[in-house]
Amino acid sequence: MCGIVGFVGQEAGALPFIFDGLKRLEYRGYDSAGIALALPEGIVLRKSKGKITLLQEVLGSLPPGPCGIGHTRWATHGRPTDQNAHPHTDCHGEIATVHNGIIENFQELRDELMADGHQFSSDTDTEVIPHLLEAYGGNQDLVLAVRRAEERLKGAYAFLAVSSHEPDKVVAVRRTSPLLIGLGQGENYLASDFSAFLAATRRAVVLENGDLAVVTPTSYTVMDSEGHSVTRPEIEVDWDIAQAERGGYQHFMLKEIMEQPEAWSDCLLGRLDGDRVVVEELGLSREEWAAVSRIQIVAAGTAYHAGLIGKALIERLARITVTVDVASEFRYQDPLVEPGTLVIAISQSGETADTLACVRMAREMGRKTYAITNTVGSTLARESDDVVYTHAGPEIAVASTKAYTTQILVLSLIALALAEIRGMPRPDIVRGLREVPALGATVLSRMDPVKAFAQKLAQNRDVFYVGRGMDWALCMEGQLKLKEISYIHAEAYAAGELKHGTLALIEEGTPVVAVITETAIVDKTLSNVLEVKARGGEVWGIVAGQLPKNIPIDHRIDLPLAHPLTSLVLAAVPLQLLAYWAAVFRGEDVDQPRNLAKSVTVE
Ligand code: AGP
Repeated sequence: MCGIVGFVGQEAGALPFIFDGLKRLEYRGYDSAGIALALPEGIVLRKSKGKITLLQEVLGSLPPGPCGIGHTRWATHGRPTDQNAHPHTDCHGEIATVHNGIIENFQELRDELMADGHQFSSDTDTEVIPHLLEAYGGNQDLVLAVRRAEERLKGAYAFLAVSSHEPDKVVAVRRTSPLLIGLGQGENYLASDFSAFLAATRRAVVLENGDLAVVTPTSYTVMDSEGHSVTRPEIEVDWDIAQAERGGYQHFMLKEIMEQPEAWSDCLLGRLDGDRVVVEELGLSREEWAAVSRIQIVAAGTAYHAGLIGKALIERLARITVTVDVASEFRYQDPLVEPGTLVIAISQSGETADTLACVRMAREMGRKTYAITNTVGSTLARESDDVVYTHAGPEIAVASTKAYTTQILVLSLIALALAEIRGMPRPDIVRGLREVPALGATVLSRMDPVKAFAQKLAQNRDVFYVGRGMDWALCMEGQLKLKEISYIHAEAYAAGELKHGTLALIEEGTPVVAVITETAIVDKTLSNVLEVKARGGEVWGIVAGQLPKNIPIDHRIDLPLAHPLTSLVLAAVPLQLLAYWAAVFRGEDVDQPRNLAKSVTVE
């Protein structure tokens, strides 16, 4: 998830507009940034690692220009460096592109283009685009070249292209990743979201999937994926700029919850092939995975909760022993990490001090370390032997949501890859994973009962969460979400443990959230639910779609029909929304809860 901006208009308009637009989009990515202006004498390019302020330092005496593109990056392929920053150009500096999303088949295209003599200067997937455009005659007819290049590109992305031979237009393509045209007076704009151009115009056109747009200072044309000219409605946006940065949502947390289907599909992109997981996309070779005899997971907070689910998945599917430890505990317990153990560190930020300390310890012990992180170029990614990225895009709200569910997806991929390597393939679950992004959209469309529940819950002091197996791990995350943003006291219990003590706390009207996606042991969970009900507890169930309608709970939040081992990703969504709405009803500062920081870089 990156920010892209384009401008085409009058002399001197491009540079100030693009720079201002990038500043407004910085929340979408901030590891590097760049601007390219299309001038008749060639593309003029400036880029820099780090935040937009650092870009300002290298802009120097750049001519302002009438046409250009800019980018603020959240790295996916290639570390955050000056070279990897966008825009990227062709071999002769005549065509420039900026891109958001992932080009799935970039390696194949890059090999082909290099064999034809193209010189690459970055490690990014993006750079194949300007070289493809060059190969297809983009320096003569940019639109035609874009159309031909599009036929070769696989993945979910949006990109902008400019040429020094046609400095009066920006060509834009949307394949899944968002892209908008802003309509000005004698100038037009392009951006990955409204906030980039709201200071200049409120009139916009939202491109649809498969659209190719050609934008000039005074006109725009849109073609669909078949090449037919189409009309997309012009809209008038009434958001303020802060609202636009949040995609119109009241809080980043809600935006990030709603983004999950997109984050899930980015996370899975290129990692599934038919009924199999593409092992090579998970950071280790087949031989290296085959040599793993034990796994030790270390992480903190939400990432630790994802690790608990990872343990269950890997042990059940691949029959490898997995231990999971809270990083701040592990580092001081003189842990036993046997040879052959792969140490997996999970961290959204890749900067959590305790998690990093565990990785350093494991390396000192001579163990192989492997990071699951959302942040390319983070300390964790750099210091671990191997790394896999969750591709969730920047997470701004302190409460982790989309990072958590993508961590579960990556752990599912690892479990499935290990299972296949060890001779126990599970094509049924691979098929189930494929459906998860679409099912996520269904879940999100059915969340009104969760809001109603949250309104009630917001008046309570204590809430309990119960479940068995992976549902218990989900409950741990559900209660953490509720505590951290609503400040309601919440505890998660293994359902079977209730009668060993906690049942004493259940009284008339005590709210209890039961997560029931472990369908194989549903009777066991339900017998614990009955114990709660017998003491007057009011049970809200988050229930797998295939369970019968008449189970004994008071209120039911149904998940859509899904493979039982993928329902758990879906079940995370109502848990997140429950916490979110409860905090909103209590009037709390959802995105920046008291006493907490997004990234815990100190011990
Ligand atoms: C959860 O919502 C928190 N933001 C927190 O528990 C977080 O998961 C933890 O601090 C670990 O952060 P990391 O994933 O960046 O390492």
